[in-house]
Amino acid sequence: SQRRKEEVSRHQQILDTAHAHYQRGLKASPAAISYLKQRGLSGSIAARFGLGWTGGDRRGLAAVFPHYEDPLLVESGLVIEAEDGRRYDRFRERIMFPIRNTRGNIIGFGGRLIAKGEPKYLNSPETAVFSKGRELYGLWEARAAVRTEGCVLVVEGYMDVVGLAQQGIEHAVATLGTATTPEHVQKLLRLSNKVVFSFDGDKAGRRAAWRALQVCLPLLRDDASIRFLFLPQEHDPDSYVREFGAEAFRASLAEADPLSRFMLDELASHHAMDEAEGRAACVHEAKPLLALMPAGTLRMQIEREFARLVKLTPEELAGMLEAAPETPP
Ligand code: CTP
Ligand code: MN
Ligand code: MN
Ligand code: MN
Ligand code: MN
Repeated sequence: SQRRKEEVSRHQQILDTAHAHYQRGLKASPAAISYLKQRGLSGSIAARFGLGWTGGDRRGLAAVFPHYEDPLLVESGLVIEAEDGRRYDRFRERIMFPIRNTRGNIIGFGGRLIAKGEPKYLNSPETAVFSKGRELYGLWEARAAVRTEGCVLVVEGYMDVVGLAQQGIEHAVATLGTATTPEHVQKLLRLSNKVVFSFDGDKAGRRAAWRALQVCLPLLRDDASIRFLFLPQEHDPDSYVREFGAEAFRASLAEADPLSRFMLDELASHHAMDEAEGRAACVHEAKPLLALMPAGTLRMQIEREFARLVKLTPEELAGMLEAAPETPP
């Protein structure tokens, strides 16, 4: 509607004005510049991603919004209204990462503290133009590389996207501190039929990958390839590429596990597969997951490999999958 359009364009103006202010802030802050340098980032990468800086002033944005009490500033997520009605900037003393939609318009920000403190990252709240569960950081910046690489890489963090790009790996996008959603996966598969997830090499990263796999299952297609790259324990893509270089990262990308292998390895790792009881429990766990997959050759292939894993014939497994869930007597 016309009203919605006007609302969006007013939000747009506010976000663009704030962004220009943050970018000027970075140019004027030796501390913020030296933080980015120390993390291995060049000025041209900072410019490419539109990075900025916001200082410690509680009402820093008043410098560019003389009407600081404008309710739209609160609606845009940049200003917080306290219980007592007083207003102050949401983002202070943070490196600012603008988040763009597929058209390149800024819809929100992520901000990282450069000093120790909590929370390390702060994101814009949900607003009229920003929905965390749908957006992917870096998608707009990555779009050309995704086409030339024929692949989109999904990582956890802002710094992973920017750090990889610094080393010439430009086809990465990040979920915004949320779990992977069906909307994310649909968006990714529209962009490219090759998707590689590369979460942090810690326990949390492994759990995030397993949850992402479950979100992918209903969306599998025979013409799409989804893979999972597991980095060494202590690394995320940014730290890995800084330590070992782009060639090493690309080599490990080429060896990422296909979804089918990750799924079967992970299922097997949950159970004592050398015992009948463990294999039965494994089938029990796998049943609802296999049921999520749309019919197709990939599903048949995965079921066949799974049957071998649990020492059933494909026919026996098919029978098990069709059978109603066991009910206690
Ligand atoms: N995140 C968040 N809020 C936090 C911590 C993390 O929203 N308090 C999100 C951010 O999007 C962040 C991502 O989760 O980029 C990954 O978190 P983490 O691995 O802890 O941070 P890094 O991206 O590795 O950040 P850095 O290298 O700057 O420490
Ligand atoms: Mn690739
Ligand atoms: Mn992490
Ligand atoms: Mn990191
Ligand atoms: Mn990380």
